[in-house]
Amino acid sequence: MKRVGLVGWRGMVGSVLMQRMLEEKDFDLIEPVFFTTSQVGKTGPSIGKDIPTLKDAFSIEDLKAMDVIITCQGGDYTNDVFPRLRTEGWKGYWIDAASSLRMAEDSVIVLDPVNRNVIKDALHKGVKNYIGGNCTVSLMLMALGGLFEKGYVEWMSAMTYQAASGAGAQNMRELLNQMGALKSAVASELETPSSAILDIDRKVAQAMRSDAFPTDNFGVPLAGSLIPWIDKELESGQSKEEWKGQVETNKILGRTGNPIPVDGICVRIGAMRCHSQALTIKLNQDIPLADIEGMLASHNDWVKVVPNHRDISMKELTPTAVTGTLSVPVGRLRKLNMGPQYLGAFTVGDQLLWGAAEPLRRMLRILLE
Ligand code: HSE
Repeated sequence: MKRVGLVGWRGMVGSVLMQRMLEEKDFDLIEPVFFTTSQVGKTGPSIGKDIPTLKDAFSIEDLKAMDVIITCQGGDYTNDVFPRLRTEGWKGYWIDAASSLRMAEDSVIVLDPVNRNVIKDALHKGVKNYIGGNCTVSLMLMALGGLFEKGYVEWMSAMTYQAASGAGAQNMRELLNQMGALKSAVASELETPSSAILDIDRKVAQAMRSDAFPTDNFGVPLAGSLIPWIDKELESGQSKEEWKGQVETNKILGRTGNPIPVDGICVRIGAMRCHSQALTIKLNQDIPLADIEGMLASHNDWVKVVPNHRDISMKELTPTAVTGTLSVPVGRLRKLNMGPQYLGAFTVGDQLLWGAAEPLRRMLRILLE
């Protein structure tokens, strides 16, 4: 059995990973060793089998004894520990949720329903570093994999509606605190049906603009508003999140040398853990809509084509419907006024599952094949 070290399994992505590994009985197939940054020697999590006590996540010696390491500990940890491990001669497989190593030449971004061939090829060539992709990119490719696989995408623009979870657990709490603060600011007026809506609106705006509004994590209000910038500012005028759209899509598809243009605007909205995206796709030929729907639906087991009708879109193509599930619905599919080669689409996905944890545990499974 492969000895698999798990680091950062208590955080938000790590907890989702643990839950999925338990559901899929991954622990039955490995010898798991849990690492910690703060509780060395304490008892590990309960996973239905005996495991050693927690080991030190900074002990290169203990880490070196692993065949595989899966980390959700974050980029700072990767930047610190990974180079030291490799310098010490460790030859095991490194599976990482953080972005630090994603664009490195000797790493592959893992999303096996889309790039199993790229992963298999890399394993054959001896590549040892397998990194989870940006959540927005992974979810887009799970939805549109059928079109990319057939080579029909000339370019794509993604306008995103990204959930609070992408910014972290504290941000999810802050979003709810902001929602609560807004409700509290107008609680009595809301209970009085005759109160004037414009008075309520004015009070809400006052609450959002007040110094007392909880914004420690986001820096600005999100509830009742939105944030049109995610991650760092780049020289190109893109946010780093927008930059990732093209580079990661093409790296996942194994076509960095011949990239498909991808660009758009990434926006944070007040959803909890599902990212949504409105996509404009320029096809390189006029493909009938029914064929497109067939291609998308048959690409993988999780994508679900939602017919382009009002009621079903409102019910099934939303964060509320998708949250906590592996389903990736794609809908609002129609040819746009710009011409028969222009396709509109809308997709939603859970950014902690397919957007983060799921590709990692599936990479482990590929190593165990
Ligand atoms: N960068 C993403 C976001 C999450 O902020 O929503 C991680 O991929």
